[in-house]
Amino acid sequence: MSKEIVQIFDTTLRDGEQVPGCKLDREQKLVIAERLDLLGVNVIEAGFPVSSPGDFQSVEAIAKLVKNATVCGLTRAVKNDIEVAADALKYAKMPRIHTGIGTSDSHIKFKFNSNREAIIERAVAAVSYAKTFVEDVEFYAEDAGRTDNEFLARVCEAVIKAGATVLNIPDTTGYCLPDEYGAKMKYLRENVKGIHNAILSCHCHNDLGLATANSIAGVLNGARQIECTINGIGERAGNTSLEEVVMIMRQHPDLNLDTTINSKLLYDTSLMVSSKMGMMVQPNKAIVGANAFAHSSGIHQDGVIKNRETYEIIDPAEVGVTESSIVLTARSGRAALAYRAKIVGYELTKTQLDQVYQEFLKYADTRKEVKDDDIHQIIETSNIDLQS
Ligand code: KIV
Ligand code: ZN
Repeated sequence: MSKEIVQIFDTTLRDGEQVPGCKLDREQKLVIAERLDLLGVNVIEAGFPVSSPGDFQSVEAIAKLVKNATVCGLTRAVKNDIEVAADALKYAKMPRIHTGIGTSDSHIKFKFNSNREAIIERAVAAVSYAKTFVEDVEFYAEDAGRTDNEFLARVCEAVIKAGATVLNIPDTTGYCLPDEYGAKMKYLRENVKGIHNAILSCHCHNDLGLATANSIAGVLNGARQIECTINGIGERAGNTSLEEVVMIMRQHPDLNLDTTINSKLLYDTSLMVSSKMGMMVQPNKAIVGANAFAHSSGIHQDGVIKNRETYEIIDPAEVGVTESSIVLTARSGRAALAYRAKIVGYELTKTQLDQVYQEFLKYADTRKEVKDDDIHQIIETSNIDLQS
């Protein structure tokens, strides 16, 4: 049975770039956009054109450059924002305007000093106006995670009638639990008239570390687009991590869901974004962290040396990592020492290994990690007879 495709909407250059201190210049944005296109994302959110002349120019340049993906620009539900976005996107092969407004009681009261009916009117007016410029209009209900489902359904129904092609349901504050976010998608699917004319989209923030889990709960309940960033970068605790959702779907064929992403480019893309933004990836980050395929405890090393599958659920080559690494520490066993010693040129007999291992442990207890150079030194100074 062929798998259903979940669209990947990459917002590294918009929501991701909102990280303090990580501003990119136009050249850097172009290089990243080109890479995202090659990676196989379906939509590139290139920026928020009205926010600054620099952002306008970047969105315009990305719109000209990108060959395959839809190029999208963010707006508020404000006429001038929409006009400026349409102008910035005029060279895109497939342009999308992403417009919207806050729908939670807190946003309606504190941000807009308004009421629910007036918010629906503004939402409809924004979508209708955006439709006069482009066919593809995505609507976001900001803070949908904390918006009551009944009102959210009314907003969605009204904007679909006005022509919205995609409905973004952001958990803007990263508040929802996976069951709750999944139930929200299900409720919308079952209660919004005309929902089959639009794609439901997950846009989850990671304030409670649940962005990936919530996005997956969303697609399991009918969403068919995930909004995400490379390395999960974004304001506060970040956005949903692209590499995580892509690999979850790939590693679970039973879900019958997939993406158009070339996963072999994930690691390299992660390195590129990390270096351009000057934002390091935490070593224990799933899929692309430096330790994601590193094994350091004796029991795990012994298993991986016998068969990788004992402790690895992903073949590192699938995400562009050349090989799993066996890191030698004081927790490593003889199997790992013999394995690395062989790589650096020593085929040790059992007796030799027993002898070297005692020296290795003494040395390893004083170090965080034992490198290949250290192995040479330990073996050469351990007085074993290498000829025997
Ligand atoms: O998190 C959010 O609500 C957003 C919207 C502006 C789409 O980023
Ligand atoms: Zn966001």
